[in-house]
Amino acid sequence: MVQQAGKGGGERGITREREACMREGPVRLGEPARSVGWRDPGFIHTAFLTDLWPNKEYYYKIGHMLPDGNVTWGKFSSFRAPPYPGQKSLQRVVIFGDMGKAERDGSNEYSNYQPGSLNTTDTLIKDLDNIDIVFHIGDISYANGYISQWDQFAQQVEGITSRVPYMIASGNHERDWPNSGSFFNGTDSGGECGVLAETMYYTPTENRANYWYSTDYGMFRFCIADSEHDWREGTEQYKFIENCLATVDRKKQPWLIFIAHRVLGYSSGFFYGIDGAFAEPTSRQSLQKLWQKYRVDMAFYGHVHNYERTCPVYEEKCTSSEKSHYSGTMNGTIHVVVGGGGSHLSNFTTEVPAWSIYREMDYGFAKLTAFNYSSLLYEYKRSSDGKVYDSFTVNREYRDVLACVKDSCPPTIPVTS
Ligand SMILES: [Fe+2]
Repeated sequence: MVQQAGKGGGERGITREREACMREGPVRLGEPARSVGWRDPGFIHTAFLTDLWPNKEYYYKIGHMLPDGNVTWGKFSSFRAPPYPGQKSLQRVVIFGDMGKAERDGSNEYSNYQPGSLNTTDTLIKDLDNIDIVFHIGDISYANGYISQWDQFAQQVEGITSRVPYMIASGNHERDWPNSGSFFNGTDSGGECGVLAETMYYTPTENRANYWYSTDYGMFRFCIADSEHDWREGTEQYKFIENCLATVDRKKQPWLIFIAHRVLGYSSGFFYGIDGAFAEPTSRQSLQKLWQKYRVDMAFYGHVHNYERTCPVYEEKCTSSEKSHYSGTMNGTIHVVVGGGGSHLSNFTTEVPAWSIYREMDYGFAKLTAFNYSSLLYEYKRSSDGKVYDSFTVNREYRDVLACVKDSCPPTIPVTS
């Protein structure tokens, strides 16, 4: 039960409730999710708050009705309704992957597998007045089939999720299971097959089993891919990605962001460097035409547990030698790996590819601050101290987005640079 109130009073009561029944879960789950990891989750409720005014602060509390009709209420919390698509105002976005959870007393976390997760959580909560929306882009809880660990994770991030939108992407630890329809046949989800992730956190997907979706936040459009399902040309997901990138009005939503869990663009993380692909095999080759054609500003990935930023790049070549300030015509997408949310860190290849202009093996997250239609600040902050260790700015007008560069316009239009 959710009780909501506009700023200054005026309780409006319950809007709508949806019951997502996990009781059918075991039918779809594998081991250990349907054996030793199984625990009856009871009922999981999703409440939709409708007819919210953009930018208005709402206060709410969640209650539980007892059999005798009395209601026990939780404490009040508040959130600000999102800006409308295209709204010009200060907008601040945080993006990271692979966070997981840890015990505050260090008591029972298996192998201390996600040692940075509490630092990331706490640093974000401390600065939450300066954050408008959070993207946790896959490898969410690392429950891996032990269902109660989702509750532990949900409790850890409650200080964030109760106040700002917490958008997720699907990763291997949410979805992958042999012969279950995932693109990769690994066992990383512990048999969850995406059921837990899709039930615990709402995303505006057309089909929850396919985890790709688009979402607008003021001057931003985010196209969130599902790297655990096929993305290649000709697939349903490829069509979705193209449609998401193609249908945004860049005059009012100039900042176009692509997100996926596994690296579909560029990473010199050790295990992507072994075979020289520096990404999931064939991924960059499949998608780079779309990033270029639709002038994607930035692409974010997790999966590799470190931090790395590329130059604006197309077909593995830097299209600008600039590192800290970008302006004018855009001629390549900047790719960022932010997989250092909390899980054990991963190393890099010894050789540094030319497109890799900043990389470090530490815990951290990215922050985008859009000031208006033409000015953006990018920052990478370490979880340990919340300080900025990498940053750049973008100043760009609408005409710069429209300008033709290599492979971004039909060949009948002359190329200007
Ligand atoms: Fe992953």
